[in-house]
Amino acid sequence: MTLFTRHFAPAAMALGMAVFGFSGAAYAQQEVKLGYALATTSHYGVAAEKWQEVVEAETDGRYVFRHFPSSGLGGEREVIEGVQLGTVEATIVSSGTLSNFVPETGVFDIPFLFRDLAHARAVLDGPIGQEILAKFDDVGLVALAWGEQGFRHITNNRNAIAGPADVAGLKLRTMENPTHITAFEALGAAPTPMAWPEVIGALQQGTIDGQENPLSVITSAKLSEVQKYLTLSGHVYSPAMLLVSKQLWDGMSEEDQEIFRNAASEAVTAMRGFVDDVETSGVAQLKEAGMDVGELSTEQKAMFQNALGSAYEQYYGTYGKELIDRIIATK
Ligand code: PAF
Repeated sequence: MTLFTRHFAPAAMALGMAVFGFSGAAYAQQEVKLGYALATTSHYGVAAEKWQEVVEAETDGRYVFRHFPSSGLGGEREVIEGVQLGTVEATIVSSGTLSNFVPETGVFDIPFLFRDLAHARAVLDGPIGQEILAKFDDVGLVALAWGEQGFRHITNNRNAIAGPADVAGLKLRTMENPTHITAFEALGAAPTPMAWPEVIGALQQGTIDGQENPLSVITSAKLSEVQKYLTLSGHVYSPAMLLVSKQLWDGMSEEDQEIFRNAASEAVTAMRGFVDDVETSGVAQLKEAGMDVGELSTEQKAMFQNALGSAYEQYYGTYGKELIDRIIATK
């Protein structure tokens, strides 16, 4: 989908309808406002474009997507609330605030839970991930698919990080995510939950030392311009989710619902492809942009896991050992 087709095709179609006098009933169009936090060139933008392309092609233009990238509709919590109210039709979001809507979602935010991307994808696409998606129905949201951002890494302006002692007292922006906050408290950092639209300004002003996000975000949000150190900590997997409003969903035929669901799954394939690419090329790009990059060794990661002991106890209490063990056992 080119810029022209994304932005001007709907207008051209509307003009055609007016000129040729097509009846409103035959060509009734539903606008789908799609909000997301990052640029159109990011993994979210790529997924959003694929979602639009497939839906618009397969419904003969009965649905017209309108993109609101770069937090154009506000922070992720606000956008999800908009989807819940039906003022926004669709969104692609991180797991940042999802556990405030469906608490079980937070289980995927446990540090060092997933072995690698393949493990995470198998869990999210399998019964555990699908059971959690279905729970969004109870809070007035339709969760169509799990997307992904990659594994999160720490960036900061204070020091390089080789072990838990190096994050002590670090003013680190976290998502508004209780599982993440618990982890960074256990590590002795000073976690500062903050909505994404405020983060770049806070880094520039020095009110926070650092933040943590996957390479997909660090590259597309150009964090190298405001952060010196990048530690490839891979401390937690970062899922994403494609959501639509119940109002939109309930107004659709079953055929259109199926089209939206399949298109969401194609969008996820595109997003994962982007993540695979940036996992390979992102570090070189960030070094070139001047970042001081270090990678935690297996032993150093084990030091972080040991320091997270009290957090793991809390996670077992919150999510249950059975669920956590099922996730770990997934092949
Ligand atoms: O850190 C976050 O809040 C999220 O990872 C982001 C950047 C908004 C992408 O969803």
